[in-house]
Amino acid sequence: SLPAKSLVSASSNGIRLASYRYSSQAPKVALLGAAGGIGQPLGLLLKQDPLVAHLSLYDVVNTPGVAADLSHIDSNAKVTAHTGQAELFAAVENADVIVIPAGVPRKPGMTRDDLFNTNAGIVRDLAAVIAKAAPKALIAIITNPVNSTVPIASEVLKKAGVYDPKRVFGVTTLDVVRSQAFVAELKGHDATKTIVPVVGGHAGITIIPLLSQVTPATTFTEAEISKLTPRIQDAGTEVVNAKAGAGSATLSMALAGAKFANALIRGLKGQKNVQCAYVASNAVNGVEYFSTPLELGPNGVEKILGVGKVSAFEQKLIDASVPELNKNIAKGVSFVKGN
Ligand code: NAD
Ligand code: LMR
Repeated sequence: SLPAKSLVSASSNGIRLASYRYSSQAPKVALLGAAGGIGQPLGLLLKQDPLVAHLSLYDVVNTPGVAADLSHIDSNAKVTAHTGQAELFAAVENADVIVIPAGVPRKPGMTRDDLFNTNAGIVRDLAAVIAKAAPKALIAIITNPVNSTVPIASEVLKKAGVYDPKRVFGVTTLDVVRSQAFVAELKGHDATKTIVPVVGGHAGITIIPLLSQVTPATTFTEAEISKLTPRIQDAGTEVVNAKAGAGSATLSMALAGAKFANALIRGLKGQKNVQCAYVASNAVNGVEYFSTPLELGPNGVEKILGVGKVSAFEQKLIDASVPELNKNIAKGVSFVKGN
């Protein structure tokens, strides 16, 4: 663990901290899968985030090199390296936020669900240690298939008796980031001031951009909507195909993951803010997990804001996503429950 002095000097308000256990004043962020395609640039962005006091890097290989490299950056976050199962407990112990991009990515021709066989077990095993070492942490899961890995982690935490639905998130920020990029490009908006909520899940038809709710208020023709919607839904595949076997989105995902982690930390510090993420939710009838805009705060999800007023086209997409999500959720749940 870190010497108290470094954490005190890293605290943003200069107040002497008696303890940093779950202290949102000196947040510890653990990054699991830190040496990967997403993990490395995400680690870079988290190292530069002034809200991060301790960046704990975990992977099964290559963590020391990534940590040595990042630790030479002149920002205040302290970097620690943890490699292999035996060091996982220490990596996540007392973490305020745990970000998980551990697992294999797609190659052309694969669906995200094709990753289930490898990644389900990875997320299950990470969650089992988190349940013991950091049961109060906010957990942000990037590992695909997100529609199933969030229920998997949730079931593991339930089994351990530490589940809090307000603290487990499937990261869908990349869908939001992409939607904002594509809408801004199409309409000539400032991309940094364009807001597009994306609801549902994180695969194919379950990705539902709410183009009727864009800020600043924007009108789309039917032709634009019917072109833009599938482009957003298939944007991950666009990158997978362009990378031609070398993996999936890593740089845009790192940016999205850093934005989301920063939003979680701001929430912990009492700076409530709104983000979309895939969580246990009653926003839509007949499905237990759904992404909608959420108010984030000191307890993670403070309020589920729901899908809001949607167009008839969007409502159809929401209805069609429910059976698909239920299939993905049931697969994750039965993976843990063993039936
Ligand atoms: P990658 O193969 O480049 O990196 C994965 C890393 O995970 C590797 O460093 C590997 O050593 C590590 N790893 C494997 N097993 C581990 C374990 N048990 N514990 C800790 N680390 C482990 O892959 P990537 O491109 O970084 O993608 C990672 C995951 O993120 C994939 O499942 C991908 O589909 C997913 N992804 C999700 C989104 C999203 O929007 N949610 C976007 C892009 C990618
Ligand atoms: C993405 O949306 O880019 C990720 O889910 C990776 C993938 O497999 O498409």
